[in-house]
Amino acid sequence: MAKLRVGILISGRGSNMRALIEACADGGYPAEIVVVISNVPGAPGLARAAAAGIATLVIDHKAYVERSAFEDALHAALLSRNIDLVCLAGFMRLLTDAFVGRWHDRLINIHPSLLPAFRGLRVHERVIACGARFSGCTVHFVRPVMDDGPIIVQAVVAVHADDDPERLAARVLAEEHRIYRLAVRLIAEGRARVVAERVVITGARAPSLGLLNPEPI
Ligand code: GRF
Repeated sequence: MAKLRVGILISGRGSNMRALIEACADGGYPAEIVVVISNVPGAPGLARAAAAGIATLVIDHKAYVERSAFEDALHAALLSRNIDLVCLAGFMRLLTDAFVGRWHDRLINIHPSLLPAFRGLRVHERVIACGARFSGCTVHFVRPVMDDGPIIVQAVVAVHADDDPERLAARVLAEEHRIYRLAVRLIAEGRARVVAERVVITGARAPSLGLLNPEPI
């Protein structure tokens, strides 16, 4: 069966991108990374992708006066490579309704919280400040509202009493790398479908146990 053709959009270090590249290096994985595009020239993720033998491209948003022209260039680059699925991986530009509409149900994002809680930036700082006992991460289909859209996979991470944002971020990031490859696999295998703005997953189980934090004494 043909592999799902994936394009990844980044702006920075690209550790989620790398997790996807590693997943695709396994011959049995049902997707391939066709291109990594950065809106930031010199984003560290570009060199990482190139080192893995992946085609890279810079489409610098600053080179475009109009946001629509930047997005047209992005769209054309993806179309010309027959991309099936676009993965945002630390892509720090808001996309317009028009772009999101063109890639409806073919554009996914990863966010370092249990959405719909803690949309936006400085997530870990805000999680700790409010005293939440759990945080986590989410892969979701993109909709015009930021960090909104049908949820595909989530992972839960306990918040520790001595956490600072960096420590919590590191534990959440490790789970991000696990859920992004799972989400792409589920889509590639046709096992994650959007029905009435919720994702229906076939052929997978949910864990039955709950988690307590703190653990009972
Ligand atoms: C991740 O925490 C992701 O959830 C958020 O931006 C960060 C990107 O990190 N959207 P990386 O570039 O993938 O390492």
